[in-house]
Amino acid sequence: MKSLFLLALCSLLVLSCKKSDDPWRTNFDHYTPEDYALISEYLNLPETPYSYNIEPVRHLAIFGIIPTQQDADMVTLGRVLFYDKSLSSTGTISCASCHHQEYAFGDNKSHSLGVNDRASKRNSMALGAVINFTPYYDVTTNGPNATRFFWDNRAGTAMEQIREAMNNPDEMDMNPHQITASVQAKPYYRPLFEKAFVGGAITEENIVTSIRSYVNALFSGNSRFDQAWINTDKVKLEPLGLNPFKDFTQQENHGKSLYMINCAVCHGPTAANPLVSSGSNGLDLQPVDLGIGGVNGLTKDMGVFKNPPLRNIAQTAPYMHDGRFATLEEVVDHYSSGIKAHENLHFLLREPDGNPKQMHFTQEEKEAIVAFLHTLTDQEFLTAVKYADPFK
Ligand code: HEC
Ligand code: HEC
Repeated sequence: MKSLFLLALCSLLVLSCKKSDDPWRTNFDHYTPEDYALISEYLNLPETPYSYNIEPVRHLAIFGIIPTQQDADMVTLGRVLFYDKSLSSTGTISCASCHHQEYAFGDNKSHSLGVNDRASKRNSMALGAVINFTPYYDVTTNGPNATRFFWDNRAGTAMEQIREAMNNPDEMDMNPHQITASVQAKPYYRPLFEKAFVGGAITEENIVTSIRSYVNALFSGNSRFDQAWINTDKVKLEPLGLNPFKDFTQQENHGKSLYMINCAVCHGPTAANPLVSSGSNGLDLQPVDLGIGGVNGLTKDMGVFKNPPLRNIAQTAPYMHDGRFATLEEVVDHYSSGIKAHENLHFLLREPDGNPKQMHFTQEEKEAIVAFLHTLTDQEFLTAVKYADPFK
């Protein structure tokens, strides 16, 4: 109830100060010819912004995955900021330096490099592993039940998370004042801020708000897994996705059922809605990185990490918080025979006597699981121009 009220309040606030929600806005001359000419000196942006409206999909909606719509002007601005290297102290690093579209907005290195080649402490998280941030993170309300950000859950809101990336000395290394000054100095931002915010003020708050809109506009719901689910659902009702899909190969269907039995208990039946939000999956007996426990100091959370969704997982190697596994085959080998009896090992990975529950897959089963994980790749998302680098 309280969060509903907050949501209503927030929407009112947003609506009352956002020019671009004006229903009478015409799309002719979205930018003035002079402004568009200025923008086009630096950026490849369409004359009228791309639409970032997301159509809810039935098989995802059943699991509560209903994205919140984002304003096109704010997302457009956020997209430019996400790719702008001048937001870092050396002018060499943008958000996209560690979150590449082709790797589902993750990185192909175990530790991404920030300013002056300083390595980040953990493996970059693929923003496209999540179908869409708004239903998953509850970012509109940021209520107490919202899923938290980072491998160790240390950020509670998207705004907090984005600020941390910008201020982190290993990442972009800029204080709020420097960021604002740097954005103000770029001529192409004036018209973009004017479209996104009434008065067009270039403030740190507005910078972070628009980057958040861009991250929230990312939507990856059109993988082969989704298409096959939708097509099967049309012929015979398949709301939970448990029966074989008609467009899958026999191997993919075999992998899907192994996934549903062994993995979906934690990673979720849509591979986008983890049922267990964090845990230890038994990587080490003695973890070096203490994860959530390192932040809150609780014994039960030592060596416990956020359980990531697995969308586009074939694109986001290496795997785990420290990128220790180079391939999906190695990941499946871990669950098959490598689970360690760490004291906080999640109970779903334990035998009744408490020992690790190795899954003992045959070679054929391992290949089937990997084939299934490949169906979670959404090519349209990985190549969509509306999410791509807009700089010339
Ligand atoms: C130097 C590399 C680097 C840069 C630059 C960077 N990130 Fe990240 N990002 C990471 C790493 C590494 C993690 C995981 C860190 C951790 O868990 O401790 C992460 C985590 C995240 C997450 C959390 C995802 C989740 O599911 O919890 C989001 C969102 C994110 N980054 C967005 C951004 C945005 C927006 C920017 C630009 C303002 C940015 N990042 C800049 C490396 C980077
Ligand atoms: C007890 C819950 C649980 C079960 C069951 C489970 N996982 Fe995980 N999985 C996790 C956690 C927690 C992590 C993050 C571990 C870390 O990085 O410290 C993870 C990480 C992963 C990753 C790496 C993700 C990334 O972005 O790097 C993959 C891939 C994966 N699991 C696949 C599977 C598969 C396939 C199965 C079934 C064979 C499975 N998991 C079963 C909890 C589980």
